[in-house]
Amino acid sequence: MKGKVKQIIKRAIGGFYSLVASKLYEPLIVKRAFPFFGGDLNSLAKEQGSAAVARAAGEPVLDVPVGTAFFTTDVAEKHTGLVVGTDYAWGMVEETRRAADAKGLRNLAALQSDIHNLPFRSGAFAVTLCTNGLQVIPGLDPSTSEIARTLKPGGTAYVSVISLPLSLVLPQSTREHLPTFLRSGEEVAASLERAGLTIEEVRRSRLATLIEARKPASN
Ligand SMILES: C[S@@+](CC[C@H](N)C(=O)[O-])C[C@H]1O[C@@H](n2cnc3c(N)ncnc32)[C@H](O)[C@@H]1O
Repeated sequence: MKGKVKQIIKRAIGGFYSLVASKLYEPLIVKRAFPFFGGDLNSLAKEQGSAAVARAAGEPVLDVPVGTAFFTTDVAEKHTGLVVGTDYAWGMVEETRRAADAKGLRNLAALQSDIHNLPFRSGAFAVTLCTNGLQVIPGLDPSTSEIARTLKPGGTAYVSVISLPLSLVLPQSTREHLPTFLRSGEEVAASLERAGLTIEEVRRSRLATLIEARKPASN
């Protein structure tokens, strides 16, 4: 896909999420669509959040894309260190800031950015959460490589994704050009591996795949 077309698609997706952020996102997408397509996905995503807090042990946590922080405020409540939430849609960033203010969470900071070009130094985070986001973002490998780059050596990524694995019946050459929501959970795991992470656990719930992946510790 040409760079300009990619940018237009990204902006359209961001515009859509900004539009639905304040009223429609949680009731329609989080509370209806996620359970419909993902079964126990929401409770499993919360489990990933608790595991992230334990694993981070006070060190910085990244949540990308953060959405309205529906899953993130719990993480920030339990975590003793900094939680950074970032999203391409400005409306989502505003909702995250509102949610943090409403709950008095001074350790939850939100900023706007593109997962393909995260504004953080390499190795900045002990743990990264990427909850139910990759399927709507065009460009799987550029997303996973930024997740891997910004994780510290020995850090952990908790990823969940909903997908209709149409790619399983298509030839390899076609698969790579499909949007992530049509690719299988295995392909998402393979992309994390290409980015240099080691897969520690894969769980499934209906059309959702939940992955725990570790960045090897440097010697
Ligand atoms: C289905 S929501 C998931 C949000 C949140 N993690 C949750 O579970 O509620 C997908 C999010 O991806 C964001 N997004 C889309 N493209 C992005 C990009 N290129 N970089 C960062 N975020 C992006 C959207 O704005 C939206 O908030």
